[in-house]
Amino acid sequence: FEKDTVVTVFGASGDLAKKKTFPALFGLFREGFLDPSTKIFGFARSKLTDAQLRQHIEPYLQKPNGKDDDAKVEAFFKMVTYHSGQYDADEGYLSLRKLIEDFEKQRNITKPHRLFYFALPPSVFLSVARQIKKLVYADNGITRVIVEKPFGHDLKSARELQKNLAPLFTEDEIYRIDHYLGKEMVKNLLQLRFGNTFLNASWNKENIQSIQISFKEPFGTEGRGGYFDSIGIIRDVMQNHLLQVLTLVTMDRPVSFDPESVRDEKVKVLKAMAPIDMKDVLVGQYGKSEDGTKPSYLDDETVNPNSKCVTFAAMCFNIQNERWDGVPIIMRAGKALNEAKVEIRIQYKRVASGMFKNIPNNELVLRVQPDASVYVKFNSKTPGLSNATQVTDLDLTYSSRYKDFWIPEAYEVLIRDCMLGDHSNFVRDDELDVSWGLFTPLLEYLESPNAPQPEIYPYGSRGPKELKQYLSDHKFVFLSRHKYTWPVTS
Ligand code: BG6
Repeated sequence: FEKDTVVTVFGASGDLAKKKTFPALFGLFREGFLDPSTKIFGFARSKLTDAQLRQHIEPYLQKPNGKDDDAKVEAFFKMVTYHSGQYDADEGYLSLRKLIEDFEKQRNITKPHRLFYFALPPSVFLSVARQIKKLVYADNGITRVIVEKPFGHDLKSARELQKNLAPLFTEDEIYRIDHYLGKEMVKNLLQLRFGNTFLNASWNKENIQSIQISFKEPFGTEGRGGYFDSIGIIRDVMQNHLLQVLTLVTMDRPVSFDPESVRDEKVKVLKAMAPIDMKDVLVGQYGKSEDGTKPSYLDDETVNPNSKCVTFAAMCFNIQNERWDGVPIIMRAGKALNEAKVEIRIQYKRVASGMFKNIPNNELVLRVQPDASVYVKFNSKTPGLSNATQVTDLDLTYSSRYKDFWIPEAYEVLIRDCMLGDHSNFVRDDELDVSWGLFTPLLEYLESPNAPQPEIYPYGSRGPKELKQYLSDHKFVFLSRHKYTWPVTS
């Protein structure tokens, strides 16, 4: 354990802090992965008492053991002190420094370990970074900063941000969080791919026909429209979360689990990606639900009434290397769809016909959420006297296989990694640069006066009508005609 760490959460009264950062700190504490000697400061502009901050956060803390966790909640809040201050003036930081130093003196800490968590809007991001460096940086110890997206709005602004951050903190001190990298199934990609000969050996253009990385959410931007309108689904989840997943699915084998080896491979595969073909992108925006009960995107009053903001997108990546050249890798994401699901679907080529007629392709599905699972659609003889081939599955569903495991939340994983100084699951500066380089031309096109009109799809549907054709055009074969259903119900 790291002992006597001082964690300061900037933006402590905001949404992210209350829904993710504090609950993750509590989750780690509850499970015994945050040492009780840790001190947590919440910092924000609002004037709040400790009790008010607690009221704000407590409803979001997970208590899987019910009342048995109450004592842990009490103990956790004893570790938390709220401190208000302006983000751009010295005063609040000077008093924060005093609080931190008093704590460190009291504990006789000679080598301070200070972690600063930025749960902040981009507008104050740099002021806070500068003030930390100026007034609360641990000169004789360890300073780590966890920063949240957005890391810029496009390639130019991301570079500008990096240029401003670089003189303040070394790359070693910066932890760019992408919470998808903390999800169990995403973390499992390295073990699954490189720890299994049969997967490793077939993970290439010779065997794989298409790959889909899909993100589906059943709710729209209700209440966040104003924010979302200048962001869109591509910046919100594709340039970051889904690209991270795609990179882990397609990169080559790193020499070890060492963070730099992993990140070197990620950068390498990103650099092998051809520019996104703008003519080959499907964009959509949700309209009212078919029964009229759910609003359209444009019904949100905070949204520009003529907005072409994209709430659904599908695009194809072509990785121009030996392993992947010619394999369509489709990334698709949408809000206000028919279900909540994030999955990676690897569709294999069909076996030769001849002895088989019309035998379905194998599919390997890694479901990230909900219900993390890995399953393979698999051809097998129909049991009994018949010689017919039937599709069945090999199934690893976590909830049934790993009943007694604690599977941490993504933020819990990542905050702990940062406390231990492990960068493996954080985004490196060069990775960010290449990823913005890939997406920026597309974003500029979609935001230009010649931007295509997004296809309207009903709230609660599967997305734009053209999606099916789009997938077929990219070599994806629908297996539904083989009467395969998942999960299998008895
Ligand atoms: C966030 C996006 O980064 O990720 C949200 O801003 C999105 O719009 C969320 O809903 C999805 O994360 P998760 O963990 O709920 O899949």
